[in-house]
Amino acid sequence: MKGIILAGGSGSRLHPMTSVISKQLLPVYDKPMIYYPLTTLMMAGVREMLVITTPHDLGLFRALLGDGSQWGVSIDYAEQAKPAGIAQSYLIAEEFVAGENSALILGDNLFYGQGLIQMLKSAAAFKSGAVVFGHRVANPQHYGVLQFDADRKPVDILEKPKVPPSNVAVTGLYFYDGRASSFAAELTPSARGELEITDLNRAYLARGELEVQEFGRGIAWLDTGTPESLIQAAQFVEILEQRQGFKIAVPEEVAWRLGYIDDSGLAGLAGAMGKCDYAAYLKRLLDSE
Ligand code: TTP
Repeated sequence: MKGIILAGGSGSRLHPMTSVISKQLLPVYDKPMIYYPLTTLMMAGVREMLVITTPHDLGLFRALLGDGSQWGVSIDYAEQAKPAGIAQSYLIAEEFVAGENSALILGDNLFYGQGLIQMLKSAAAFKSGAVVFGHRVANPQHYGVLQFDADRKPVDILEKPKVPPSNVAVTGLYFYDGRASSFAAELTPSARGELEITDLNRAYLARGELEVQEFGRGIAWLDTGTPESLIQAAQFVEILEQRQGFKIAVPEEVAWRLGYIDDSGLAGLAGAMGKCDYAAYLKRLLDSE
């Protein structure tokens, strides 16, 4: 299973914070935003990843994440010349995906909650078609929104509808079989000039091959595209971490728990970080468990 983290975009709603740097490099409380989707993919069992970002930011992501070997995964990089839509990632990633099943996650999406890892793992075990996740939101008109029939089977997905057919938005985590790149190649740009991920999902839906799994209210799904949602996500992470003494979305910890790195590997990563709360946390993990 291959994994794509889409970390380009213009981040225009966060200007001037994102005037010279990618949104996904900004902090969400105590770590860069991209650590959240990265660890989500790791927890789904993905070990081969492609980060797609802007030509301007690619070097910065490479400097931050390297080739992934320090965490027992592999990370490649590709450019998206212009933010021409989320579905364009499957044109850019065609060679990387090489006809295999894959997961796509948006670089500004944060998932957290009880039972999440189990859901991710079982979704990742899909054989064919596509799997997406629905989550209830208060403001569906900003998202791709699911329309259901009387048996709660999905019958359509509408992108940013003025009159939403439900409160259930499609989250920024998608699993596709090996046909995603060829379906993406058949899409035409929307009125806003983008290759829409909703249209890729509709291509699977039209064939009766889109599975929708709904997250319950115990799962938090946050995105971080506006100043308010960015600070809210940071506060959410701060509250959980301070209260429990566990950090969320630490790639070093996830790699260690999954057995990709051993105790001495974790100690080495902590030592290399110098004096910071994050390194102290990694050392505490080793001492306490
Ligand atoms: P959006 O939040 O829809 O767009 P954006 O990040 O460019 O922000 P804004 O609307 O404020 O200008 O994008 C969702 C995610 O997908 C985000 O992580 C950026 C990423 N993205 C790309 O990498 N390339 C694209 O072409 C698009 C549309 C989004």
